[in-house]
Amino acid sequence: MSILELKNITYGYIDGNKKRTILDDLSYTFEKGKFYSILGPSGSGKTTLLSLMGALEKAQEGRIRFEGQSLDEIGYVKYRRNHQSIVFQQFNLIPYLSGLENVLNVMHITDNELPQDKQKTALNLLNTFGIVESKARRSISQLSGGEQQRVAIARALATNVELILADEPTGNLDTATQKEIVAIFRKLASDYKRCVIVVTHSDEVAKMSDTQLKLVDGKLVDITGSLSHV
Ligand SMILES: Nc1ncnc2c1ncn2[C@@H]1O[C@H](COP(=O)(O)OP(=O)(O)O)[C@@H](O)[C@H]1O
Ligand SMILES: [Mg+2]
Repeated sequence: MSILELKNITYGYIDGNKKRTILDDLSYTFEKGKFYSILGPSGSGKTTLLSLMGALEKAQEGRIRFEGQSLDEIGYVKYRRNHQSIVFQQFNLIPYLSGLENVLNVMHITDNELPQDKQKTALNLLNTFGIVESKARRSISQLSGGEQQRVAIARALATNVELILADEPTGNLDTATQKEIVAIFRKLASDYKRCVIVVTHSDEVAKMSDTQLKLVDGKLVDITGSLSHV
């Protein structure tokens, strides 16, 4: 079943006095319960595309629908709070707060129905991703990169959203940790029926996804299967 529909999306930046088109009449429909990867060279517009899908930016032309409703109808702030989470490459956690506090913050902001005991839920979630309680209570600045990424993923899931977006989430991690994180994304799609969209420059990560897409000349091209020879 479709969850996110991009239709004729065009987006560009002004360079000096000239407009440079990054996304060019891009259309694609993402489905629930699937894990997608988006490949593409540096500068091809992957982060730009994620920020449009996450409603951090507005498409200049075209429209985005979430579960059949346009983002304008839902409202950008509401959509960001209640329907999607972004895992950023640099984690974007609040460094002087603990992992637990970082997770609790988003749980307090969302309108989604969550279990009553938020603290217990947050600790359980962190524990699922390998952050035991003593670590969850440490400030973010005292955690390793891999641990911070686990906290960021727990935070992304804490609001019970259907759509998880991630921008090169394993770019700063060692190979073993990268594999574990990718396994989590797979499970989110297959077992929890979330739609997971991961931007990556790693063919290894992409090979673990259900559908491999590549950003080429401002459009998404399905390249599923073509990585097997690499
Ligand atoms: N705020 C901005 N203003 C002007 N140009 C930008 C801005 N953000 C990104 N760009 C340019 O748009 C292109 C695509 O950027 P980006 O989406 O970050 O690509 P990717 O994530 O694939 O590396 C790059 O050439 C980048 O320099
Ligand atoms: Mg980028």
